[in-house]
Amino acid sequence: MKLGFYNIQGGTGKTTIAANFAYVLSQSVKTILIDCDLYGGTTSLIFGLEDVDHNLNSYLSGTSTVEDIIYNYEDLAIIPTGVTSEVFGYKTDIEKFIELVEVLSDEYDVIVYDCPPNIPESSLLLAYGSEENLVNKVIVVGEDSIPAIVNSLKSIELLKDFGIGLTGIIVNKYRGLTDLSEIADDIIGVLSYDPNVERQWSESKPIVKIKTKFSKELINLTHDIASIYLEKDLASLRALKVAKTLSGISEDEFKKDIES
Ligand SMILES: Nc1ncnc2c1ncn2[C@@H]1O[C@H](COP(=O)(O)OP(=O)(O)OP(=O)(O)O)[C@@H](O)[C@H]1O
Ligand SMILES: [Mg+2]
Repeated sequence: MKLGFYNIQGGTGKTTIAANFAYVLSQSVKTILIDCDLYGGTTSLIFGLEDVDHNLNSYLSGTSTVEDIIYNYEDLAIIPTGVTSEVFGYKTDIEKFIELVEVLSDEYDVIVYDCPPNIPESSLLLAYGSEENLVNKVIVVGEDSIPAIVNSLKSIELLKDFGIGLTGIIVNKYRGLTDLSEIADDIIGVLSYDPNVERQWSESKPIVKIKTKFSKELINLTHDIASIYLEKDLASLRALKVAKTLSGISEDEFKKDIES
């Protein structure tokens, strides 16, 4: 399963949710998080990977191998980005990215993409996502304000135009400011505004490791998304096994399930 988190708008919580979602999943299934924000990625900050030598940029520019760029935080595998002036002017090698995803798809049950805002030309997923099978579904992470809702709806339109499957909108930083009833059909989750979220950056650890309101909501949402959407979208036996594991069904029950 390859799942992206996206919005044309910056700062809505894509990185926060992608990183923590991936961390929670990694406790049950083999998960890799790819920071696709080539020019402004911040995933590394959550996992203490700011100063590493290899990253997605160095892989795409041909100076690092696949093995070089994969780092671990507990059971989660992570490919960070790292911007330096050296990446200025180099053309993203989409073929190399496709190759990377192919290799990772064999090894990981779930690939989580943290996408940059906007629709930059270098976008790794949008332009080639559907035809190259780089991504199965994208979740739009939006905020609780009227302009943000408009941007979330625009993001959905864009994804449709690019032929990319949509799971729905997560309304993040919810403070009860907007009436969500108009977009209720597109919403798959609502996460509260919680100033504690900021601690993930200063303490270099996923916020779900710290007991906060937001963490509790995000852990529950991750399990819901995993059990409902992954199960629905996955067809292969291995994928079904992953979905069952995620929804908390024991191995024995699962075996009984597939035998019957
Ligand atoms: N539910 C929340 N409550 C309070 N603050 C939050 C919440 N979610 C995210 N934030 C804060 O909002 C800011 C932006 O979050 P984040 O970097 O995850 O967004 P993003 O969409 O990835 O941004 P960018 O578009 O720059 O990649 C961060 O300071 C983060 O700590
Ligand atoms: Mg981000």
